[in-house]
Amino acid sequence: MALPILPATLLIIFLAYKLYKKLQYNLPPSPSGLPIVGNLYDVTPLKHRCFAEWSKKYGPIFSVFLGSQLNVVVCSADLAKEVLKDNDQQLADRYRSRPATTISKDGTDFIWADYGPHYVKVRKLCTLELFSPKRLEALRPIREDEVTDMIEALFRASTKSDNAGKSLLLRDYLGPVSFNNITRLILGKRYMDSDGKLSQEGQDFKEIAMARIDISRNISIAEYVPWLRWFFLVDNVGPAKYLELRERFTRKILQERTHALTKENKQHFVDALLSLQKEYDLSEDTVVGLLWDMVAAGMDTTAVVAEWAMAELLRHPRVLQKAQEEIDRVVGTDRVMTEVDFSNLPYLQCVTKEVLRLHPSTPNMLPHRASTNVKVGGYDIPKDTIVHVNVWAIGRDPAIWKDPLEFRPERFMEEDIDVKGQNFRVLPFGAGRRICPGAQLGINMVTSMLGHLLHHFNWSPAPGVKPQEIDLSERPGAVCFMLNPLPVVATPRLPAHLYKSALTA
Ligand code: HEM
Repeated sequence: MALPILPATLLIIFLAYKLYKKLQYNLPPSPSGLPIVGNLYDVTPLKHRCFAEWSKKYGPIFSVFLGSQLNVVVCSADLAKEVLKDNDQQLADRYRSRPATTISKDGTDFIWADYGPHYVKVRKLCTLELFSPKRLEALRPIREDEVTDMIEALFRASTKSDNAGKSLLLRDYLGPVSFNNITRLILGKRYMDSDGKLSQEGQDFKEIAMARIDISRNISIAEYVPWLRWFFLVDNVGPAKYLELRERFTRKILQERTHALTKENKQHFVDALLSLQKEYDLSEDTVVGLLWDMVAAGMDTTAVVAEWAMAELLRHPRVLQKAQEEIDRVVGTDRVMTEVDFSNLPYLQCVTKEVLRLHPSTPNMLPHRASTNVKVGGYDIPKDTIVHVNVWAIGRDPAIWKDPLEFRPERFMEEDIDVKGQNFRVLPFGAGRRICPGAQLGINMVTSMLGHLLHHFNWSPAPGVKPQEIDLSERPGAVCFMLNPLPVVATPRLPAHLYKSALTA
């Protein structure tokens, strides 16, 4: 007898809760869901596509119940403005799952911190110190080292006699550029040798980065249905192991850097943080958390966008050729491009903007949380609601973009459209208080990778694949990778001496 009573009680509690919420608030419409789990199992793995489909049915703002957690998704530029500008401060907290609470030491880092005095302090440090134009410029040689190193590696691979005419996987070359860039910018260390082999320290670093990814993958149903936590134990092993590895690793780096702190090496984030720790009153947990937040947020995002860009360029040879012609005209064929050339390469910059419109690396941004009751689109957003902005859908909205699915960088030449949070039609970095602090760095890295790839090589799809057949399938996850790494054939087009890495030159 006891068995049927339990589900019936749970069902009644759930229905009563839903009814209470419905009557108490004027919530955005929602797909009908199941008792207890709500819409948890209706959301398909490619969340941004699922949400875009639902917005056609329920409108540009709708509710999604993940278990008993109320989530609100917005899919239009006007509503994005209401979230990220008009109600920015009230919607700038973060939702933290239990593992995220553990690994962020209860939000004492940056990404998982709620909006408050701690966040404002760390944000100020990022804006004024870590990502200042001066520091970005001072760190430019690192970015140029790494991108030219990729070019040399591609040159070696593509000119190897047994590789002639064969395809290679571009990701194998883009991945190391962003990996090395991030470890060098942030920790002041390169963990890979010129053959792409990781040092022991590099392997430890990768293990930590992977452990963090595993934690976000292994979220249990109890995260969504709090009272199930009585039945499901929290996985403390994953987060604890991650924290232990991270702490040990970072402590060693901090010790090394503290001893070596001199004027010359102050530019890396770790050095900057150590020298500013007192001035900004940062705890050691915050310093460590901040460093690893940057690693997590900056590692994949740029390589992912560059891979999507090359896929679109291969599908659109006209655009590829036009971008190459511009680079040839401005840079010529007897020197290598640098970031200084960007201002004379407007079309290349528009290619970067167009790919960020169509393929933002985090299509639903990162989830925000309401710190108080607010109204969006005329609906109630109760305190603690998790709010998602589907920037992927907004970038493809036919109501605000002409031929939105067409990859046409010219649209950004015809109209000067900002992609760093000023124009709500294209929000690859978000907007407002929580906008990505690494936006300019990310744009520079992507534009530099593309510029070098186009300048140094001619490109074609894998043998037998027509441009329109290139596979644009997406991999589920918070960061939207191409599902299958892009195979390409690269043919050098500049004099051989221009393929030498700045690292070894
Ligand atoms: C093309 C590259 C990149 C894209 C498309 C991108 C996009 C984003 C987006 C959409 C957010 C969430 C904004 C929000 O929640 O409202 C974000 C947050 C963040 N990004 Fe980026 N990002 C990129 C590169 C980088 C880089 C290179 C770094 C640092 C090295 C970085 C560091 C961060 C940090 C620390 C946050 C958290 C900010 C906060 O919680 O307030 N990002 N990024």
